[in-house]
Amino acid sequence: GKYRVVSTKSMPGSRWIRLLTENDCRLEICTEPKTILSVEDILALIGNRCDGVIGQLTEDWGEVLFSALRRAGGTAFSNMAVGYNNVDVEAANRNGIAVGNTPGVLTETTAELAASLSLAAARRIVEADQFMRAGLYDGWLPHLSFLKANGEKPVTWKRAATMEDVLREADVISLHPVLDKTTYHLINPERLAIMKKEAILVNASRGPVIDEVALVEHLKANPMFRVGLDVFEDEPYMKPGLAEMKNAVVVPHIASASKWTREGMATLTALNVLGRIKGYPAWGNPNLVEPFLDENATPPP
Ligand code: GLV
Ligand code: GLV
Repeated sequence: GKYRVVSTKSMPGSRWIRLLTENDCRLEICTEPKTILSVEDILALIGNRCDGVIGQLTEDWGEVLFSALRRAGGTAFSNMAVGYNNVDVEAANRNGIAVGNTPGVLTETTAELAASLSLAAARRIVEADQFMRAGLYDGWLPHLSFLKANGEKPVTWKRAATMEDVLREADVISLHPVLDKTTYHLINPERLAIMKKEAILVNASRGPVIDEVALVEHLKANPMFRVGLDVFEDEPYMKPGLAEMKNAVVVPHIASASKWTREGMATLTALNVLGRIKGYPAWGNPNLVEPFLDENATPPP
């Protein structure tokens, strides 16, 4: 192939591989077993000739990598995620590199996980499962109950009511913002304090949207407050104390983890990179995270 494309991880499915290799790309998939690649690892992958990279949300894509990619002749980068807080888009665009993400295919899958977490937290499924496995179930009893059904009703915050109004009123709060300066520690001690004592808080966006240290304190002080977390401030770690809290259900960043969704995300990354390398918009609209206009781009045939 005439274009060299690097993927920093192996991804599910084969469609993304076929898309690239059947369209003039020589694909190199990194086999480094480390879960999280460092900037130095990725610099070595880019090398001195690279047209496009498919990267992961665990990687720090800033000036160092984008200028190296530019020097290697690259013009395309796609994150395999809808979120791109790990990407300095301005640095990319300064270096002539278009940035793609993978919206759409994970919306319902993520919503399902958020709903599952809120129900698991409400019905204390994890504690009940542990109770069974510990051999503590002696037979059905009228008072045997972990269960606290609240008749939860959804309230949606569309930035109309104040966030404080919604937090005061809601039984279940599911967080789905983009992580940026305006949403860092959106849930802070003051906001936790105004929430219902028996509210359920779910986060399947990015960990730093919640002040996790404050959350642990809040969970300790309010045993009926429950939380379902897919993401953490210092992934892959949890803040001290969180793992011991029975009123927390924690899962390892799996909101988009269905086969269909992950294969769809992988396919979108290939289309994003191809769309850029082969000449936007001849290849359809890549999912660029912001309009990226390249005056030197080859017009479509
Ligand atoms: C995963 O967290 C994503 O942003 O797609
Ligand atoms: C998406 O948000 C994921 O959890 O992978």
